[in-house]
Amino acid sequence: MDAIARYLDEHRDRFLEDLKAVLRIPSVSAQPVHHPDTRRCADHLAEHLRGLGMKRVATLETGGHPVVYAEWLEAPDRPTVLLYGHYDVQPPEPLHLWQTPPFEPTVRDGKLYARGAVDDKGQVQMHLAAIEAHLRVNGKLPLNLKLLIEGEEEVGSVHLEEFIRAHRGMLDADVIVVSDTAMAGPDQPALTYALRGLLFGQIEVVGPARDLHSGHFGGAVANAANALCAIIAALKDGDGRITVPGFYDRVRPITEQDREARRLLPFDEAAFIGEAGAPAPFGERGFTTLERTTVRPTLDVNGMWSGYIGDGEKTVLPSFAAAKVSMRLVPDQDPVELAPRFEAYVGKLAPAGVTARVMHMRGTPPFLTAVDHPMLGAARRALGRVWKKPAVMIREGGSIPVMTIFQQTHGLPSILMGFGLDDDQVHAPNEKFSLTSFYGGIHSAACLYEEIAQG
Ligand code: BES
Ligand code: MN
Ligand code: MN
Repeated sequence: MDAIARYLDEHRDRFLEDLKAVLRIPSVSAQPVHHPDTRRCADHLAEHLRGLGMKRVATLETGGHPVVYAEWLEAPDRPTVLLYGHYDVQPPEPLHLWQTPPFEPTVRDGKLYARGAVDDKGQVQMHLAAIEAHLRVNGKLPLNLKLLIEGEEEVGSVHLEEFIRAHRGMLDADVIVVSDTAMAGPDQPALTYALRGLLFGQIEVVGPARDLHSGHFGGAVANAANALCAIIAALKDGDGRITVPGFYDRVRPITEQDREARRLLPFDEAAFIGEAGAPAPFGERGFTTLERTTVRPTLDVNGMWSGYIGDGEKTVLPSFAAAKVSMRLVPDQDPVELAPRFEAYVGKLAPAGVTARVMHMRGTPPFLTAVDHPMLGAARRALGRVWKKPAVMIREGGSIPVMTIFQQTHGLPSILMGFGLDDDQVHAPNEKFSLTSFYGGIHSAACLYEEIAQG
């Protein structure tokens, strides 16, 4: 391993340049103007993988953005790792808040700033550097490796389940490894064993047939914007509990033991809330901040629009109002079961004089894996070799749809070994990746393949 560690150190500047090259491609999966860039990013990665010596490299079509596939299967009797990542990124807007442009990667203070720096291009590139080191130093990998890098994660992995079911055999493996989560602190490695699920959709309220003079008609007909606000306000009660009937039916209660284990985690609430730039913690009564972001479900408005929002005044009753709403789900909530309940409930909440409908509902189930499977032992040993502190087991509040898909289609054990930090500004302006995380992550990935190979 010394030779590999040396190779990694000697090539660290070029690894950074390789990452910057990927970050310059604006692969924003949500925005149609960037569809050609998204495909270009897939092609770029495929080219890089061919250069590394990976086999059967291909950009494979889905109903949406392509999937990059590659493999190296020349280690008979060794386990097979399926490595997953995503090359698509979130929209960079609002652009004026970026200190340097989102697709011009820049290093400041030991951190690399760009959209996708940590989510997830930087974490994919860590693995490509680790693969390169093994192949260049030893002429081989210590195990079999299959790579699946998708381009639709940030829009809900729309076509991934279909793709995985269609390529079931090709994607068969002994373990899935994903680096798309966070550490518990800058020098505190972590393995994630749970993710929240997601259910999202759009509420649309229609009142009068057209916008109306708010003097001539005001007081006589319903206002779509007011009605939407009434609906949203009714979705939670004064304790911050979600009022959708049956919403909590399948939520697992928190045991005292679980609570205690979470209290022992290195978590600085004041720093976390400070990082958010929020004046105070806020959330469901009776739960701590860490419980609120991991083991409890949420309901949030992600955006809303209605009426006149230009300069000056316009006295008008809007005929239309809409809001994008998302719910984070926890075990054992089921988005398929909750979607119709949510739709029916919103319909009931609509005040007289308007109609309300829910559009485009989609979701991904919550993810939970055992904390003690042997593959996680390999990950713990790998992290132990690179970082000074032993890894902690954490739950995360975000979602990664592939995790439940693979649990269902292949039943694979999962390793979520991520290197993000709370202040990385993921999905926000000035997203960054700490270079300490990046290089530590590269070494960790290189060690992980060895530890899994040794079983
Ligand atoms: N890497 C994140 C998921 C994540 C975020 C894990 C924070 C742990 C901590 C991923 O790219 C993401 O943003 N997922 C979306 C999924 C959604 C669009 C289905 C999310 O969580 O909003
Ligand atoms: Mn991600
Ligand atoms: Mn993301």
